[in-house]
Amino acid sequence: MTTPDLSGAYALDGADACRRLYADWADSYDSDFAAGMDYRLPAETAAAWLRSDPPPGPVLDVGAGTGLLAAALRGMGHRGAIDAVDLSEAMLDRAARKGLYRRLTAADVTRPLPLPAEYAGIVSSGTFTHGHVGPEALAPLLAIARPGAVFALSVNAAVWEALGFARALDALGERIGGLDRAEVSIYGEAARRRDPAHAADHALIVTFRKT
Ligand SMILES: C[S@@+](CC[C@H](N)C(=O)[O-])C[C@H]1O[C@@H](n2cnc3c(N)ncnc32)[C@H](O)[C@@H]1O
Repeated sequence: MTTPDLSGAYALDGADACRRLYADWADSYDSDFAAGMDYRLPAETAAAWLRSDPPPGPVLDVGAGTGLLAAALRGMGHRGAIDAVDLSEAMLDRAARKGLYRRLTAADVTRPLPLPAEYAGIVSSGTFTHGHVGPEALAPLLAIARPGAVFALSVNAAVWEALGFARALDALGERIGGLDRAEVSIYGEAARRRDPAHAADHALIVTFRKT
């Protein structure tokens, strides 16, 4: 088996392919991919969420993977409950071992979610991207957010137009407020040597509040 990489992940075409790829990637994701690429997006997303003055209450990490975003939130001082949802049981299994999450749920975030409508924060890094999740997840996520909940979602800049994120956010109208976005680098310096094709990739971190 060869270790999965970004090109394989970006070419995914459905839930089964996603589960297979991440089952092969889960063990080496942190040590090989995240460390090797100096993967900054979880920290950028955590910082954007904390800057947006979120209300107290539980946070849901969407496409939580191995738990890098929860680790970034904890590292920045966030002490409240964090839950994880992800399609891949293998990735959630790695995340569970870190002891960062209150509850871990295997589910597809593009469908109605088997979670209570209690979240004061919805965060996500690296999941709204090529071959993964598009704006169709916004409605199921809004449905489980409480009024006033703060969202911070990274969206790969290359799919922002292609998958229609601006249109989808616009269509939410008065259901959301305070919409803002900031462009960030996904990777650091180490990525130039490791994967020059993706080293300069950017994401937009979208922040808004459920009204
Ligand atoms: C690139 S990883 C990002 C993981 C983590 N958030 C991070 O920043 O390291 C993308 C994650 O999204 C998950 N994913 C992909 N499609 C999904 C879906 N429809 N529903 C839930 N999770 C999904 C994958 O299983 C994978 O763990």
